[in-house]
Amino acid sequence: MHVLVSGGAGYIGSHTVVQLVAAGHAVTVVDSFANAKPSVIARLNILTGEPIDVRSFDLTDRDKTEHLFAHEHFDAVIHFAGFKAVGESVEKPLEYYENNLESTFSLVRAMRRHGVRRLVFSSSATVYGADAEVPMKEDAPTSATNPYGWTKVMVEQVLRDVGAADPTWRIALLRYFNPVGAHSSGLVGEDPSDIPNNLMPFLAQVAVGRREKLSIYGGDYPTPDGTGVRDYIHVEDLAAGHIAALEKLASADEPVSTWNLGTGRGTSVLEMLHAFERAVGHDLPHEIVDRRPGDIAQSYADPTKAETELGWKATRTIDDMCVDTWRWQSTNPDGYP
Ligand code: WQD
Repeated sequence: MHVLVSGGAGYIGSHTVVQLVAAGHAVTVVDSFANAKPSVIARLNILTGEPIDVRSFDLTDRDKTEHLFAHEHFDAVIHFAGFKAVGESVEKPLEYYENNLESTFSLVRAMRRHGVRRLVFSSSATVYGADAEVPMKEDAPTSATNPYGWTKVMVEQVLRDVGAADPTWRIALLRYFNPVGAHSSGLVGEDPSDIPNNLMPFLAQVAVGRREKLSIYGGDYPTPDGTGVRDYIHVEDLAAGHIAALEKLASADEPVSTWNLGTGRGTSVLEMLHAFERAVGHDLPHEIVDRRPGDIAQSYADPTKAETELGWKATRTIDDMCVDTWRWQSTNPDGYP
């Protein structure tokens, strides 16, 4: 298939592009490069062995989006593009709602106008909200505790209603748990634009000497060792989940399907710290401090729906995630050039 990948220069998008090409698909990337560096593309060209077709514009530009669909034939779209920093979304709600919703409206309108009705949407476990029971199941109610999370809840609802209005759509809503890790080559990986909010990139930057120490947000949660528990999933397993969902859409009976992409296993902050120390080969400076406002104690998936319906299962371990992250970070101490 010819697949349009929005946000294809981003962390999860870039890893998915490599696997799409390896699976024999033709890929076009559209990216505004608001949150990604152009040098990612050179790495993708190396890993895929071919020059990736890249269109550099913002999907909120409806004319450019329409022009792309008028001049290229796509069989499907994987929509990663969007702002995704929780804290930033609290400071800039209007920008988050406008960007994440408007880019989706612009894209889906162009798809509908040109008869492209296979869509994989990058959603998030954040839609399970703060009171969700673990393990999280796809039929749980959705809510959010920050504007970023609300944009994911809202886009999911828009897409469910689009599918209800026109059942010829085939839409996959993929709810990621905590994506971490990097391609085994060390050529592509996670490269946050400023101080990392997330645990793994912060840990990696401590290990490479860019940050002084890891602050562990809370040691008094009702969890085995008191630190927060999350379902970390290797980005390569996550990318494979997108290929599986894309291929499932060809035979799906329902207009809209929702799948968790997680391992089903919870890992605490301290467990992740020790796994990273094993990857690096020495202890890493850390300190347990106060809880971070808005954090929940535990989050992990019930992954059985994706396993049974997509034939997909995460295979990589916590140690794999740390070894691959460390290879990326140690060979790219300052991220992409
Ligand atoms: C993981 C654990 C922290 C940093 C976020 C978004 C979510 C999704 C994934 C997009 C928690 C602890 C973290 C640090 C720490 N993103 N931690 N010190 O909060 O589970 O989810 O990323 O969809 O929307 O909310 O991920 O990596 O920030 O935190 O102790 O410096 O690590 O308290 O227990 P989170 P995270």
